[in-house]
Amino acid sequence: MSTTKSIPAQQSGEKSTSGENLLEVEDLQVHFPIRQGIVFQRQIGAVRAVDGVSFQVKPGESLGLVGESGCGKSTTGRAVTRLLEPTGGTVRFDGEDITHKKVASMRAARQNLQMIFQDPYSSLNPRHTVGTIIETPMKLNGINPEQGHKKRAQELLEIVGLNPEHYNRYPNEFSGGQRQRIGIARALALKPKLIVADEPVSALDVSIQAQVVNLLQDLQREFGLAFLFIAHDLAVVRHFSERVAVMYLGKIVEIADRETLYSRPQHPYTHALLSAVPEVDPDGADNRERIRLTGDVPSPINPPSGCRFRTRCWKAQDICASEEPPLVQLIGSADGHQAACHFPEVKQVVAPEEIPAAPASAAE
Ligand SMILES: Nc1ncnc2c1ncn2[C@@H]1O[C@H](COP(=O)(O)OP(=O)(O)OP(=O)(O)O)[C@@H](O)[C@H]1O
Ligand code: SF4
Ligand SMILES: [Mg+2]
Repeated sequence: MSTTKSIPAQQSGEKSTSGENLLEVEDLQVHFPIRQGIVFQRQIGAVRAVDGVSFQVKPGESLGLVGESGCGKSTTGRAVTRLLEPTGGTVRFDGEDITHKKVASMRAARQNLQMIFQDPYSSLNPRHTVGTIIETPMKLNGINPEQGHKKRAQELLEIVGLNPEHYNRYPNEFSGGQRQRIGIARALALKPKLIVADEPVSALDVSIQAQVVNLLQDLQREFGLAFLFIAHDLAVVRHFSERVAVMYLGKIVEIADRETLYSRPQHPYTHALLSAVPEVDPDGADNRERIRLTGDVPSPINPPSGCRFRTRCWKAQDICASEEPPLVQLIGSADGHQAACHFPEVKQVVAPEEIPAAPASAAE
């Protein structure tokens, strides 16, 4: 077992100068107040959905954000894109502090910072044609392409693998995967630098997921797009993200580059997540450990003291209840590999395979 000797976060490779990063999130908090009373609406508590999260995304890079349902992934994504007002901490995008900027004064940031949503059914207005859906953000942002809005919208349809002649069709005439492609075209219309993709494939059939992920990957390469890619499925993130952050109950518990996180995970929660996907070893000679995570994620209204994972952790000791483990880099760990655990341990677990590649252009 490793000791907890560590390099403080400030000295670790994870922290870098602002000049290199497109997105810098520092100690982000999003608390939803719980109110009681009909007239005075007294605040009696708060849902601490995101409770001190820090990470960076470089231009053109994809950072995966993974964790179980309710751990604060979407709230983080919404706070970063400023669909939600952060309660605390800072969000810097492209060198600008946008933490509390008013919507009207952050047009440039809004244009460069787009979001793709999980549900391709509710995120497109059913009364608008595909053409209108893609053109509207361009018009609202004063973007006037040389070839005109219609031609540009058709170009974008082609880029995402749809038939440009379907410009006048309505969302209900498309399948789930095709609708998600329309959402991607709408996000691309503003030529963003970063896309927050909130579980963009989890509502789709497994057979379609790989096609959409491959499309996003092609777009990332072709346009140098950066992604904050939110997923609970480690297989999807493995395929798409060069770095992965694991979230539990409002906090990041481990962050590392893809190779390190999958081959040398240190945090018990990451071990559990990595071994959650059932997989039979073809040789039958598997001595890697399989961990079954039991119990639910505790309520973010009243999270456990010390380490938030302790109520489900098989390694918990007294210190875990009294002291919160900081997110730090262990001596000897890969650069930028940080974990928040008093008893971190490198463990080989049964990890999910990458989802199989599929031609991005294949229309489902
Ligand atoms: N507007 C809100 N008001 C109160 N609580 C909220 C609100 N939005 C989210 N929450 C709570 O915040 C916590 C984090 O929610 P969030 O949607 O960010 O989780 P998630 O990781 O995206 O989960 P999932 O995988 O299910 O999408 C949950 O406990 C959720 O119930
Ligand atoms: S700090 Fe303790 S409870 Fe938390 S993950 Fe580590 S061993 Fe488990
Ligand atoms: Mg979510």
